[in-house]
Amino acid sequence: MMNKKSKIVLVGGGSTWTPGILKAMTTHLKQFPLEKITLYDIDEERQKVIGEFAKILFKEEAPDVKVSYTTDEKEAYTDVDFVFCQMRTGGFEMRDKDEKIPLQHGVIGQETCGPGGFAYGLRSIRDMEKMVKSVRQFSPDAWILNYTNPAAIVALALDKIFPKEDKVLNICDQPVNLLRSFASLIDFDANDFEPVYFGLNHYGWFTHLYDQTGKDRMPEIKEIILNGGFRPVDAEQRDQSWLDTYAMVEDMLKDFPEYLPNTYLQYYLYPEYKLSKMDPNRTRTDEVREGRETKVFNECRRIVENGTAKDSSVVHNDAHGDMMVEVAASIAHNLRKTYVVMVRNNGIVSNLPNDSMVEVAASLGANGPHPYAVGEIDTFYKGLIESQHAYEKLTVEAYMEESYTKALQALTMNRTVVDAKKARKLLDALIEANKGYWPELN
Ligand code: G6P
Ligand code: MN
Repeated sequence: MMNKKSKIVLVGGGSTWTPGILKAMTTHLKQFPLEKITLYDIDEERQKVIGEFAKILFKEEAPDVKVSYTTDEKEAYTDVDFVFCQMRTGGFEMRDKDEKIPLQHGVIGQETCGPGGFAYGLRSIRDMEKMVKSVRQFSPDAWILNYTNPAAIVALALDKIFPKEDKVLNICDQPVNLLRSFASLIDFDANDFEPVYFGLNHYGWFTHLYDQTGKDRMPEIKEIILNGGFRPVDAEQRDQSWLDTYAMVEDMLKDFPEYLPNTYLQYYLYPEYKLSKMDPNRTRTDEVREGRETKVFNECRRIVENGTAKDSSVVHNDAHGDMMVEVAASIAHNLRKTYVVMVRNNGIVSNLPNDSMVEVAASLGANGPHPYAVGEIDTFYKGLIESQHAYEKLTVEAYMEESYTKALQALTMNRTVVDAKKARKLLDALIEANKGYWPELN
């Protein structure tokens, strides 16, 4: 079975994340043998740079794999086993607005949380719906592994639009990033954790971190964080905003010592404090464009000019790419490893709505995710999650019903907004900024 070679298309092939994913593919060829990889992007210029880099990387490291790139949907989706999807509708130009418009209204400006995530969500759903339909036209049996943000809203929307789809899996790398950083505190291999996790995407908690002997290592890890703070394992490669984000885990633990929180909860638990630290004129988009984007594209251009990718910094191993490839391998070769993924609740967390898309640990094999039961959760978490689920559901319904009222209800429900007058002003500004991307809301 391990000999079976997979055919892959990477949607969003011109992304800054692509070189790291490609590198992970070359280092995982034994676990995940490849026949062909196609990079697909609607931005021809970006795709060309990364595509030419890909050809050089594979020529040097895995010459048997067929590598191509395209801007043609039919070519991209024909004859593939896996679709790795990481599109960004509207690009960095729209991410910039998602982050800055809320700040102009005195609200958190973040890519996936609050009004920014709401705006991005209404943009993503349409392209994701189109993507699933096109993939099904050209490769009816392909697995679609989705990393497109805001994953919580995308996952819920796809579940509502395609309720019978059983080969679409939505995943986020943040639980794995956190596991790697927790593991580094106790000198442990993150792959050996058996985590228990519950919540919604970018809105969840670890309740246990078992090691191979069955011992829960969470108490030790909490102790270390409470005494010495928390930094990501790859701190040297991180910008200051990410270091600040990880540091907030200590604050969250001090206030709510029960579980280890996902870093994204900082925006919902401390909206005023986080807002006071944000600069309306310079947000994460600026940092990414000046940092990762410039570096990746300059480096790929240099590699193409020199004709070699040997010793290049742009192809260092990254957790994000490793995870994408390992998840696909677990499905392709029925490895049944445990991953934290998004699935329809259906009783997994017994006191949350059945139609929510919860993020939980699941065994992942050829037949998809088999989630582990979580049971009942306590009032604090239940209340937070139910209000966030209501926000997500209203956002998806606003899209499907083209409803202004539901959009206003969604924003009002969001913990980073709360005030309905503020929500209305924000909604009107976001409608203006997202013309052509959003359905017309009535
Ligand atoms: C984490 C999240 C992703 C998000 C990314 C943003 O990995 O899980 O959902 O896209 O961070 O990173 P950036 O460096 O672009 O701000
Ligand atoms: Mn994520």
